[in-house]
Order: sequence, then structure tokens, then C-alpha cells
Amino acid sequence: MATIIDGKKISQDIKDELKVQVADYKAQGIEVTLAVILVGEDPASCVYVRNKKKACEYVGIRSLSFELPADTTEEQLLSLIDELNQRADVNGILVQLPLPKHLDENKVIQAIDPRKDVDGFHPQSVGALSIGLPGFVSCTPAGIIQLLKRSHIAMEGKHCVVVGRSNIVGKPMALLMLRENATVTVTHSKTVDLPAVTSKADILIVAVGKKQFITADYVKEGAVVIDVGMHRDADNHLCGDVDYEDVFPKCQAITPVPGGVGPMTIAMLMHNCVASVELQK
Ligand code: GUN
Repeated sequence: MATIIDGKKISQDIKDELKVQVADYKAQGIEVTLAVILVGEDPASCVYVRNKKKACEYVGIRSLSFELPADTTEEQLLSLIDELNQRADVNGILVQLPLPKHLDENKVIQAIDPRKDVDGFHPQSVGALSIGLPGFVSCTPAGIIQLLKRSHIAMEGKHCVVVGRSNIVGKPMALLMLRENATVTVTHSKTVDLPAVTSKADILIVAVGKKQFITADYVKEGAVVIDVGMHRDADNHLCGDVDYEDVFPKCQAITPVPGGVGPMTIAMLMHNCVASVELQK
């Protein structure tokens, strides 16, 4: 019988721990502050930003909201980031992605002061992670490490297969699993005979962005399966990259969608905001 890894409960625990730390900072006269920049009105981004602001409110982090029109120029956006970089009362800066097509995402991410890069997307943060130096870690993979640790699932020596090689999830996930002494394989759309590779995994982390793509044939008996995907099925219910019903009987443990990885991303963003205070001291 598979264990369902409860991301909702674990993220709540993390937010409650952070709430205490934020209150401690407040007592010392430090108000932890996150600046959130949203360009345009992409519906999914609006929901994400609203949830991030709600989490800030719960934890006691002050959030400053910058909602800019879709036709904002690169110059205007870079100038706002520059202003927020300078402000001593701003600890973290988050630019919600994706940006409208006319804006260069790499340029925008690189404009954020790495000491305020709570998303962990700046090349300096990514470089620090790859050579084991302290720095901000991308929130979704950092959240997955917390899910595993807090569910007492050992990573050391285990074969971890990551499906997907995005900059936000797949690549940092592989680096984090290496840091935990797992043996790591990264697969992607060009991998030959994907099921042959994934079915070797003790821990299978799926971030392909394809609805219910991973079926039981891809999974080893007794594996731990982590589903990063978020889609709507034919009945308009939320579902992941993993065919949950099909895979569940084969697993030792599995994350549900919703209530698995999703809430952890926001909890780790809150964690990074609190950590930024120490980094900036
Ligand atoms: N768009 C999708 N996921 C993320 C995220 O983690 N951070 C930001 N800034 N944008 C996103």
C-alpha cells in the first residue's frame, strides 16, 4: 500500500516554522519584505501571484505588489528592478514568469541582485548550487527535497531518475539529489527507451509537462514517485504528469496532484525570503 506524501501538511508545517522566525525578526525591528512583480494578466500567473501574496500574509512577510501592464518596456522593468535592488527595506525580488514575449527573461533575471534572488534563477545562484556554495535554490526542487526528508525517505545511494531538464526544475533537481549523495540520471524528450530508464529508479521525479504521461510501465515496483506536473483532465479536475491511478499500486510512496509538490514551491519561496535576511546581514 503506497504512502501518499502530504505536501499540503508538510508545507503548512514549514510555513508555521517560518512564522515563528518572522515574528522573531519583527521583534528585532526587521520586517521581512518580498517584492512581487507581475507583467501582464496571464491567468495562471495571476493565480500564482495571488497565492504567493496570501502565503506572505500568513507567515507575516510584508509583500509589495508591482502589477505592470503587458506593454511595459524592458527599460521600465529593468529600472523598477534596479530601484528594488537599491531599497534596503526589500529583502527578496520575484519576477513572475513567463514574461510577455517582447521582454528578455534572461536579461531580466540577471538584473536582480543575487542577494535578493529568492527564486534562485540568477546564474550566480545556479552556479553556487552547482559547486556547493551557499545561495538561493529554486523553490520547486528545494521543496521536493523537503518532501522526501520530512517523509523520512533516504536519498543517499539511491538511483534517482529525473524526467525533464528545465532550468527551473529538472537541472537544479539533479544537482540537489547529487548533493544528497543519490546516483542521478537526467532524462528528457530525446532519451531513447524512456521506460527502460525510469523503471530503474528508486526515486522517480517527473517534470515533463505532459498530462498523465507516466504510466505503470515506467515505474519500478516499490519506487517513490514525485509528480511536478499540473494539468486539467477531461473532467476539468487537476492532475499531474503521472497517471496516478495506474501508478499508485506499484509505489512505495507518491505525491498527489493537487496537494503534493505544488504547495511546497510557495513554502520554499517563503523560506528563501526568510533566509535572505541572514544573507543580507
Ligand atoms: N512561473 C512558474 N513557476 C515560477 C516560479 O517558481 N517563479 C517565478 N518567478 N515564476 C514562475
